[in-house]
Amino acid sequence: MPTLFDPISFGSIHAKNRVVMAPLTRARAGQDGVPTPIMAEYYTQRSNAGLIISEATGISRQGLGWINAPGIWTKEQIEGWKPVTQAVHAQGGKIVCQLWHMGRLVHSSVTGEQPVAPSPSTAPGGIHTYDGKKPYEESRALNVEEIQVIVEQYAQAARNAMEAGFDGVQIHAANGYLIDTFLRDGTNYRSDDYGGTVENRLRLLREVTESVVKAIGGEHVGVRLSPNGEVQGVIDSKPETVFVPAAKMLQELGIAWLELRESSPESTFAFDKPTEQPKLSPEIRKVFQRPLVLNQDYTAEEAKAAVSEGKADAISFGRRYISNPDLVHRLENDLPLQDDDMGTWYGAHLGAKGYTDYPTATS
Ligand SMILES: Cc1cc2nc3c(=O)[nH]c(=O)nc-3n(C[C@H](O)[C@H](O)[C@H](O)COP(=O)(O)O)c2cc1C
Repeated sequence: MPTLFDPISFGSIHAKNRVVMAPLTRARAGQDGVPTPIMAEYYTQRSNAGLIISEATGISRQGLGWINAPGIWTKEQIEGWKPVTQAVHAQGGKIVCQLWHMGRLVHSSVTGEQPVAPSPSTAPGGIHTYDGKKPYEESRALNVEEIQVIVEQYAQAARNAMEAGFDGVQIHAANGYLIDTFLRDGTNYRSDDYGGTVENRLRLLREVTESVVKAIGGEHVGVRLSPNGEVQGVIDSKPETVFVPAAKMLQELGIAWLELRESSPESTFAFDKPTEQPKLSPEIRKVFQRPLVLNQDYTAEEAKAAVSEGKADAISFGRRYISNPDLVHRLENDLPLQDDDMGTWYGAHLGAKGYTDYPTATS
């Protein structure tokens, strides 16, 4: 069995090790969604990862409601990403762009329109806007013509990502955002072709994946799912009936790799409710034969064991990569890991603080 530090291919991406940087929204882009120069420094510091998954990146204004998060739908955004991808490549790293439509988890003051979802619903809690924190607003149901526009926007965003120099894309189908709200029966009450049966609830994921694969080739495409538990108010009553078929479908559609963010009763991830719903990765591994990346709450020991025991092909780290830019070096040498500071997770006003100023073990 391989170790966490052995190379692996994610489709066309030849990764030097199996330590993946999980997607992390850090909100250091401009209000126009254009990446800023400090983002190139931040990702370069972390280019020791076999693969970097970028922070979630909006495919359209409608789909991007997180303040100071980047986008990939305008010419300026594409140009803004180029120094990031070039800098990562110059260090021998690989980076894919996580394609994001936030669905109901936006605020109209940022997107300019009412949030959209499979069905009308309101997420619990609130969201940061440029005018302070506001409660979530009720979403409206997308019609079929609008869904087709969004499917094409994913494909165009994928083409844009390749133009910006990314090695591929990851379709964000996790964490309560648009695609996830279609997948789960807690937020999808539709009675047309996009709701009701499992096949219908998988339809948006199928169409988005098909269009992205057609646009840039399956060897450049990964998908992220969060099969179990409740995140940001989104839950399914029988996740195994949705997510195991979803993984099988993704295998058939020819994507190169799949990442699962799996929750547990001991979850320490801020957006999660700890859950008793079992992890589905053992079942998903049986139906998805290409590289499987597992995520959430992995310690160094657990990550090494999961890969060497064949439970996963790679492990992605989120919070550990925020505070340990040299994570691979630390894991390989059993060095202590630094803790992150939640107060500096997000915020263009913070600049380098909590972003590019975490020391390496040798600095
Ligand atoms: C500050 C922060 C930002 C995050 N942003 C994203 C994101 O943009 N896209 C995404 O899919 N997950 C996002 N996540 C979830 C992480 O990718 C990851 O699933 C989570 O942190 C659990 O992994 P960990 O235990 O290794 O931190 C974010 C998490 C944190 C802490």
